Amino acid sequence: MAQRHLKTLTSLLGEKPVAAVCDTDRAKASAACATYGGAAYEDVALMLKAEPIDVMFICTPPFAREEPIKLCCRKGLPFFCEKPPAADLKAAGKIAEAVAKSGVVHSVGFMYRHAEMVEEFKRWFEGQVVTSAVSQMACGLLFEPDSLGWRKLADQGGGPLLDQAINLVDIIRLVAGEIVEVHAFGSNQLTPRSETLTVPETVTLAYRLANGAVGCHYHSWTQKGWTCQLELRTADSRASLDFAAGKADGTIKGEAKTAGSPKDYYVTEIERFLQAVREKNPALVRSTYADAAKSLAVVLAASRSLETGKPERVKEV
Ligand SMILES: NC(=O)c1ccc[n+]([C@@H]2O[C@H](COP(=O)([O-])OP(=O)(O)OC[C@H]3O[C@@H](n4cnc5c(N)ncnc54)[C@H](O)[C@@H]3O)[C@@H](O)[C@H]2O)c1
Repeated sequence: MAQRHLKTLTSLLGEKPVAAVCDTDRAKASAACATYGGAAYEDVALMLKAEPIDVMFICTPPFAREEPIKLCCRKGLPFFCEKPPAADLKAAGKIAEAVAKSGVVHSVGFMYRHAEMVEEFKRWFEGQVVTSAVSQMACGLLFEPDSLGWRKLADQGGGPLLDQAINLVDIIRLVAGEIVEVHAFGSNQLTPRSETLTVPETVTLAYRLANGAVGCHYHSWTQKGWTCQLELRTADSRASLDFAAGKADGTIKGEAKTAGSPKDYYVTEIERFLQAVREKNPALVRSTYADAAKSLAVVLAASRSLETGKPERVKEV
């Protein structure tokens, strides 16, 4: 993900915009510096001590968020952090407290919030009471090499729920309100669990929203090709988002609606973050750490449900 953001930063700010790159794998940091500029580090604290940094982009795996974010908070340094905001609720709680105390401008990388069609979709449902939500996401991640490491390990913040489903959960929360209870089922039909795969390859969730409505989500890593869709209904409206097709459509109170997503939302999220930093205006941020932690709490409740076999309440962060 860092590569994608480095390319975006180059397109927005010009050649070699980077002051420093830190990666525990120093060769990766050096390779990034060769293309994007700056000095290579293996230790984030040393990097922050030595380099004149304006903003930090945190693209580590989910289990490695606490140290870099807390360092930013201590220094008053604005940061952009990839999703999920942490690998577990304990870390998320500690980070959320540090972020709130520091008041630093920051943004969490829930990129779908920046898609024009999502903004339009949200407007379609404003003032309406959502009665049900149905979504699905599928891809062939199971067939990709195990070099991905953490992404297939439950205790490192990997798995379909924390790595991907959280993106749609976040949009459901944004448009339809909070999810309060989840019951999840998982399966490993094609690839048995092993040391390198400790998450289900396919998961289904049934959940309840705070307004009493119910929803379901299907998620699989066993499909070649990419599916990512969400449909919401109200008493007199029904509309869907299709991220693979880049469009939204439906009928809202009898009126046919359609919307696209012409701009790259991965670029928009960075533009908006940089604008918020320049203008010292946190109000421009679409995804705060505190809010992102609520999306994390939903997928963690689903993970607990996979363990207990029972519905689980979504915990407060
Ligand atoms: N928004 C999206 O569409 C999207 C897509 C892919 C990944 N992501 C997110 O981005 C994050 C990174 O994913 P990725 O696919 O780039 O993972 P990755 O494993 O390819 O890269 C992570 C990098 O972090 C380095 N690293 C690990 N621990 C570190 C530490 N303590 N300090 C410094 N560097 C450390 C690793 O050496 C590696 O180079 C994840 O949270 C993932 O969910 C988001």
